Amino acid sequence: MATIILGIETSCDDTAAAVLIDGKLHANVVAQQLEHQTHGGVIPELASRAHVQRIIPVVEAALSKANIDKNDLTAVAYTQGPGLLGSLLVGNAFAKSLSLALNIPLIAVHHMQAHLLVHFIDDEYPTPSFPFLGLTVSGGHTQLVRVENSSSFTILGETKDDAAGEAFDKTGKMLGLPYPAGPIMDRYAKKGQPRFSFGKPNVDGLDFSFSGLKTSVLYFLRQEQDKNKNFIEENLYDLCASIQNSIIEILTNKVKKAISETGLQQLVLGGGVSANSGLRQALEQINIAVYLPPLPYTTDNAAMIAIAGHLKLKDGKSSLLTSEPKARISI
Ligand code: KG4
Ligand code: ZN
Repeated sequence: MATIILGIETSCDDTAAAVLIDGKLHANVVAQQLEHQTHGGVIPELASRAHVQRIIPVVEAALSKANIDKNDLTAVAYTQGPGLLGSLLVGNAFAKSLSLALNIPLIAVHHMQAHLLVHFIDDEYPTPSFPFLGLTVSGGHTQLVRVENSSSFTILGETKDDAAGEAFDKTGKMLGLPYPAGPIMDRYAKKGQPRFSFGKPNVDGLDFSFSGLKTSVLYFLRQEQDKNKNFIEENLYDLCASIQNSIIEILTNKVKKAISETGLQQLVLGGGVSANSGLRQALEQINIAVYLPPLPYTTDNAAMIAIAGHLKLKDGKSSLLTSEPKARISI
């Protein structure tokens, strides 16, 4: 009999559902919440309300796209955390109700593990083998992890302050770009030259820091705007290229260090910032096998939750109906 997993993702501002049949993706529906754009960041209360409104239509759309009746589902996997508690609660309550009503296993999934496990979807893209070095780069996380198998993740290094996505979004805000600024900066950077340089972090080991870059950009902009009030408008593309370059340099330096320290021969990328074209190019220059997620799997999606659930179920792991959402939960 086929293994049919419904994946549900509601950790932040995207309401997403996916259907995976025997490891192959049959539907991947994401409803993005555009209501946060004008606020310069995600407003948690708005996000939870939007999830409540969208979860049923999004799940129905995924089931219908996959041509699956809910009674055919083998299990339901949902994002347990990390994320915004109010947002996570919606997916948790929905998944538990469905599991109870259909009498099928409930599988709680770690969002950042799922960002890396998305590479195991049975599709035309190459799949890494264990163990590998994982780099998670999202709006809330930046971590280097050793992944032994689908349920064993060891943190080798992580950010001491802002995440890489936050560095894009916060510096982008200084340039007057709407939230999330990351994808816009990526586009503008292609039209500019990285001719400005900013302060470099000095962090031990495999940890990262992005707050110094943020401050360095802030002071640089203030100083230049005192001389020319149109400085940002006149240099927008070069500023984007320069900031993006600095973020990429911080990430690639630590990735190279991790490779030489661990001897791992495969690098697997996950998280929203892995969509960045400059970062993808830079990492592909590194002399080991690099697995970049296909673009639809970079930002938050439920396909990654479904495959993580599929792998857990294969290992005989499921969760109790008492399973709770967790805003903070270590990988
Ligand atoms: O993984 P994700 O969708 O949500 C979290 O789990 O946080 O990541 C969202 C982050 C945002 O900070 C967004 O600006 C960034 O990913 N992002 C990008 C790009 N696309 C999304 N950053 C740089 N370049 C991109 N192309
Ligand atoms: Zn994410």
